[in-house]
Amino acid sequence: MSKKVFKASYIISSSDKVYENSFIVIENDKIIEITSNFKNEFKDYDFYDYSNHVIMPGLIDSHIHSYQVANRGKNVKKSLIDWLNTHILPWEAKLTSRKANISALLAYTEMIESGTTTFADFTSVNHTDEAFKVAEKLGLRAFIGKTMMNINSPENLQQLTKVALSDSIALIKKWHRKDNGRLNFALTPRFDLTCDNELFTETLKISDKYDVLMQTHTQETKGELDFEMEHYGKHAIAHLDELGVLNDKYILAHCVYMSDEDINILKKTKASVVHNPGSNMLLNSGIAPIPLMLKEGINVSLGSDVVAYHNFNLFEQARLTYNMHTLNEGFTSLSPRDVFNMATINGAKSLHIDKEVGTLEIGKKADMIILKLDTHHYPIADIIDNMILSANKNDLVASLVDGKFIFKDRKIVNFDKKELFSMIPELI
Ligand code: GUN
Ligand code: FE
Repeated sequence: MSKKVFKASYIISSSDKVYENSFIVIENDKIIEITSNFKNEFKDYDFYDYSNHVIMPGLIDSHIHSYQVANRGKNVKKSLIDWLNTHILPWEAKLTSRKANISALLAYTEMIESGTTTFADFTSVNHTDEAFKVAEKLGLRAFIGKTMMNINSPENLQQLTKVALSDSIALIKKWHRKDNGRLNFALTPRFDLTCDNELFTETLKISDKYDVLMQTHTQETKGELDFEMEHYGKHAIAHLDELGVLNDKYILAHCVYMSDEDINILKKTKASVVHNPGSNMLLNSGIAPIPLMLKEGINVSLGSDVVAYHNFNLFEQARLTYNMHTLNEGFTSLSPRDVFNMATINGAKSLHIDKEVGTLEIGKKADMIILKLDTHHYPIADIIDNMILSANKNDLVASLVDGKFIFKDRKIVNFDKKELFSMIPELI
């Protein structure tokens, strides 16, 4: 049976369209109807009664590092460069395919349980296949990159430019656009402290040739900026702009320290920004000027940046975003709706899939999550504000990607999570 009909109290189509007490109809991977007046004219369908539930677009976590999750919970109180040098890079240097696989299982199952249906992952330099295998199995929509570094990094993680790129091309050929376009590769130079100019310019050529997105970190901490001034005479965004590599296929994580010139470069090049408020607090990086960037029309999405933050709950990042900027700049800074968009359609825009996902509309793919309404949601003044201000991962009962359940009755569909407990000791 290829059709599914869902009844719900609220169907949030987008931040400006909500259907109450309505039905959403799916055929194969697509939404074919949203109506308050379902007349039973569809033959051969499965019916799901989610009265007292909300159906909304699946969340999009636009910046994670799945392989880093084994470093979870170390309350290290170090800023970025120190944290990378002390914890992350030494761990990365010892990564095995088994550890990468278990890390991806831990990361991706937690994302599913948190309402994320699409993500962008910086895996390490090696073992990127493992992340793809796990995403393929679990049914998530994935953008997965192999981190590239060719200068100023640990010896066994640093590669020659041509090797980093040929590894990336092999992964593109193996995985890009696989499974009905659900699995995608993203070219991933780590940041300009560990990547030279040639690596950035050659990456752009591969992006153009194979039509693949690019992701990197920019202007996250003051330590980084000092290094860039010393080595390049300018900060990352001006540096990448001078190289001519920024365009609308670039996703820039962080952008905490932004000059007017940087903002103009992003407007001109149409590169997207990922905001990671939890990570920016935990590493004491700073407060990104997100309200300003949104007002300037820059596309800003949301990321958990695990393990610079310690969980994949994007509802938590949404709330951190709203609270952080309200405290920092006051009541006109941004609205819960702005944050809702960051967690959904803006993520889709940054990944060039906004014609397919990010809102629930006829003709789009059925990537959606279903949350049970409970006393902590009531009274409901505005269901969208409510999803940002009081919803949580524990409310999630089901998720679909491409019209298929990946989470149902509060359980991961394609993997028995109990198996993970015995694997976790292998990570340590
Ligand atoms: N900048 C370069 N590498 C990293 C990383 O692994 N995490 C974060 N948060 N920032 C980075
Ligand atoms: Fe990061």
